[in-house]
Amino acid sequence: MAISADHIRQLHPYEIRILHTLERLMRTHAWVPLELIKKSTGFSESETLFRLGRLMEMGMVRYDVVPYEGYSLIFSGYDTLALLSLVKKGTVSALGPKIGEGKESVVYEAAGLGSLALKFHHVGQRSFQSVRISREYLPEEGHCPWVFASRFSAEQEHAALKRLHPRVRVPIPIDRSRNVVAMEFIQGVNLHRCRPEDPAGIMEAILEAIGEAYRLGVIHADLSEYNVMIDGNDVVLIDWPQWISPDHPNAAQVLARDVAQILRYFSRKFRVTANPEEALARVTG
Ligand SMILES: Nc1ncnc2c1ncn2[C@@H]1O[C@H](COP(=O)(O)OP(=O)(O)O)[C@@H](O)[C@H]1O
Ligand SMILES: [Mg+2]
Repeated sequence: MAISADHIRQLHPYEIRILHTLERLMRTHAWVPLELIKKSTGFSESETLFRLGRLMEMGMVRYDVVPYEGYSLIFSGYDTLALLSLVKKGTVSALGPKIGEGKESVVYEAAGLGSLALKFHHVGQRSFQSVRISREYLPEEGHCPWVFASRFSAEQEHAALKRLHPRVRVPIPIDRSRNVVAMEFIQGVNLHRCRPEDPAGIMEAILEAIGEAYRLGVIHADLSEYNVMIDGNDVVLIDWPQWISPDHPNAAQVLARDVAQILRYFSRKFRVTANPEEALARVTG
């Protein structure tokens, strides 16, 4: 479900308190019993039920009776907590339109400390839904695998951007809360949507950036025409949560695949070719 600025504006302070309480209690409970929410917030039963009802209507909280009666945050609720914290810190002042949606993320434009892109990491959403169907599955690393995995993914992406900026042209990292990365909004278009005048020059710039990232200890690991943006003369590499270090056991293979993906695209689309071994040697040289 899309994150709704209207819903967030309408939240009552008690509802925000319940979201925070659920977040905290979900470290120890996959489903938080009503009694615990009451005890933790100090709200009466009718107040708690009313507030939980509103949060469920807004798609931020879910209620279930299996395996036991309880409440749980879902992605919109977690996204809301992250956004509220970025607003409180002064990073974000307004949420704009959705600008991208992938398998495991949703990207919004936002205003605040400049023109921003907010990337909401949603990892394990599908598996989370199947967890609801076959509840016997409980992961090793805690009660809420999707919270952990989504926050971790955002941390990884933010770490890569911080390491790469400003030596490699990537969105400038601005801030992070929970599963959300706030970064510079890139005005350009994705490479797969543009017809560059000088494709060979663009390909060179991408290989140059792959090499510079490698020297800084970062291999993208999901590079393709979809994760390159062209902003005027700038070639910007985006989408870094899955990056690996050159020490990783599969580093050589992953780097070669990144380079091959780029060469394949330029050869197929623009008939610009390069020798894969030479390109790879240049990147690692
Ligand atoms: N910093 C940004 N500025 C402008 N647009 C962005 C930015 N980051 C992502 N986007 C847009 O959102 C899309 C999805 O973002 P991306 O980081 O590639 O995530 P994923 O592909 O994993 O969903 C991108 O293809 C791009 O169109
Ligand atoms: Mg992408």
